[in-house]
Amino acid sequence: MSATSTSGSANLAQAISRLGPLATRFALAWTDACTSTNSVLMERMPADDGTVHVLVADRQTAGRGRRGRQWQSWPEGSLTFSLAWRFAASTPAPAGLSLAAGLAVARALERIGVPGVQLKWPNDVLVNGEKLVGILVELQPARDRSLAAVIGIGINLSLPPDAHVEHHAGVTDLARALESTPPSRPALLAYVLAELHLLLDTYSVAGFAALKNAWEQRNAFADLPVRISSDHESTDGTCLGVDDDGALLLDTASGVQRILAGDVSLRPLGGETA
Ligand code: BTN
Repeated sequence: MSATSTSGSANLAQAISRLGPLATRFALAWTDACTSTNSVLMERMPADDGTVHVLVADRQTAGRGRRGRQWQSWPEGSLTFSLAWRFAASTPAPAGLSLAAGLAVARALERIGVPGVQLKWPNDVLVNGEKLVGILVELQPARDRSLAAVIGIGINLSLPPDAHVEHHAGVTDLARALESTPPSRPALLAYVLAELHLLLDTYSVAGFAALKNAWEQRNAFADLPVRISSDHESTDGTCLGVDDDGALLLDTASGVQRILAGDVSLRPLGGETA
């Protein structure tokens, strides 16, 4: 990880000021470049000092997405950061954690005025059916049986016109979603951290069940025909919503199935997936 630059320090100061009293709950670092903010926190998990450690990078040289994919981002054109959230040993298995993180980001975007924010299971944030935010959650058990979760978030702010994004057709950015200049990265970071703090606190105490209704209100595929694709198989059905632990409920020809992993795509009636 390279050192924080002058602009990184200024961004950090702005984010802290935007967070107000909540800033004391976070230990923020803003770096010019690193491989991947998730990788850095996973490889060098900060000691548990009672704060939530957050690493923001202007540029990632090896940004990672879900299921082994790459994640592309652009300095100034993206907000890319990760935070390390610790769960007590008594916390139930964090199956719904990535859904809780997606919901927090959705609520932060709504607070800044983004219309029509939706969630695609498990944790993509969509606007007009296009992906605005990607989230990668990775878990690291500690010796005392507590668990640290690294939650990595990539928000497209303003993609360069010549950006080559995989599946570009299905990708959007905040400038387009807002139809105006997006907030600064420190301001956006503060909005997202505030919502994450609120929802992850709730999650730690009451589990995903306490957030399920709010998630389902934003479910992009509610009652729609979908296909769940994993490495080796695909399953078709109708999306019924999510379970108390965050599993996707799929109404299939052989009954209701609980789906724990996979990619969801919309399945046009009687046809192939888009
Ligand atoms: C996905 O949609 O596949 C998840 C993308 C997650 C991207 C973020 S950017 C910050 C953090 N660092 C990474 O390498 N990945 C996550």
